[in-house]
Amino acid sequence: MRFVDPVRNPYAPGAGQRPPELAGRGRELDVFDVVLERIARGRPERSLMLTGLRGVGKTVLLNTLRSEAINRLWGTGKIEARPDQSLRRPIAAALHMAVRELAPRHRAPDRIDAFLGVLKAFAQRSTPPSGRGGAAPKLRDRWQPGIDVPASSGRADSGDIEIDLVELLSDAAAVATDVGTGIAVFIDEMQDVGAEDVSALCAACHELSQLGAPLIVVGAGLPHLPAVLSAAKSYSERLYRYQRIDRLDRIAADQALCAPAEREEVEYEQKALDLLYEKSGGYPYFVQAYGKATWDHAPRSPITAADVRVAAPEAEAELAVGFFGSRFERATPAEREYMRAMATLALVDGEEGGRDDMDAAVPTAEIARALGRKPASLSPARDALIKKGLIYSGERGTVAFTVPHFGRYLRTQPA
Ligand SMILES: Nc1ncnc2c1ncn2[C@@H]1O[C@H](COP(=O)(O)OP(=O)(O)OP(=O)(O)O)[C@@H](O)[C@H]1O
Ligand SMILES: [Mg+2]
Repeated sequence: MRFVDPVRNPYAPGAGQRPPELAGRGRELDVFDVVLERIARGRPERSLMLTGLRGVGKTVLLNTLRSEAINRLWGTGKIEARPDQSLRRPIAAALHMAVRELAPRHRAPDRIDAFLGVLKAFAQRSTPPSGRGGAAPKLRDRWQPGIDVPASSGRADSGDIEIDLVELLSDAAAVATDVGTGIAVFIDEMQDVGAEDVSALCAACHELSQLGAPLIVVGAGLPHLPAVLSAAKSYSERLYRYQRIDRLDRIAADQALCAPAEREEVEYEQKALDLLYEKSGGYPYFVQAYGKATWDHAPRSPITAADVRVAAPEAEAELAVGFFGSRFERATPAEREYMRAMATLALVDGEEGGRDDMDAAVPTAEIARALGRKPASLSPARDALIKKGLIYSGERGTVAFTVPHFGRYLRTQPA
């Protein structure tokens, strides 16, 4: 009989928190390996786009892919897109970092300097004209690229983001070619990149893949990311390889729990694992949350179903605050009403207890009917919720929650 030490609790619920065991992503890692190898050999490859609901592990996977690229001596940079933020500075910073990683291996420092001059010009193009009456720019507008070389002119500085991005990315790729590797730019929350920037990014990826240039963009975003990209450029469907990141199957979910426990010489009874899977539905965030609470409550190994039962309310309370509540609070009263109607309709449509009962897509027309409103009058609430990343529209005329089990949570909330 072994004591389960709370100090050694291995589980890690949290946004972007590296899990103690990255379970069930072998296929995605293998695909990326092949992509890197092909690009390094000058073979055509498509950029990768990871899509999935909140908490399925997109950020964690993106970070893991980045580590893989670094291990292969690629230059890398990462961005987290935000709504209403231009891509220019973040992408400049990411490429700066990527090229800095390659610079020590480059034989001709002046080539690096030439690139940095272009990079600086590209980044500075976004500097807003200094405020009226010479007012000092706001702190966040001041950008310190830390580039010592002077900005060059005539390349990547036209002000047209599409032209500039194509030029900047091809120049970056040329630096990578010189050192015999590639550059990978990782973009998280990619659905939040603005329309004009998305369009420019697609054009740049298109151009680079035609040139066989060793630079790829690896994106991650909510399930409607493909729709965002194809709205920008019709050819985007052929440009990217989409990988749906989903909940873990039973074997992977068990592995996510058991592998870290084994390293602490702790075991689970089969019934405990059955119950944990029933509660988590295999969603990685929930696997970590229930795993953590259960570990804290279990007095000894093996961990039993009774331990899970005792711990579950605590896990649920923490999820209600940290995972669901923090998102729900971002919604206005009208938006909350909209989501409540969604939650009720999703239940009517789906089978209670089925995996997707609360995550099913709901026709917007039915939401309007349920609320006794005209569909058009609800568009502002719907659009705002999409922008806040709480719902998405996968198919025309329907919406679904981006947060797994959100409908169930909403039904427990007082109106
Ligand atoms: N493959 C996995 N195996 C086990 N746990 C995982 C796995 N992937 C992610 N997790 C855990 O799930 C949680 C959520 O991961 P992450 O933040 O990467 O999700 P996400 O998809 O980026 O969510 P969001 O859309 O909210 O940004 C983290 O606590 C992480 O440790
Ligand atoms: Mg994330």
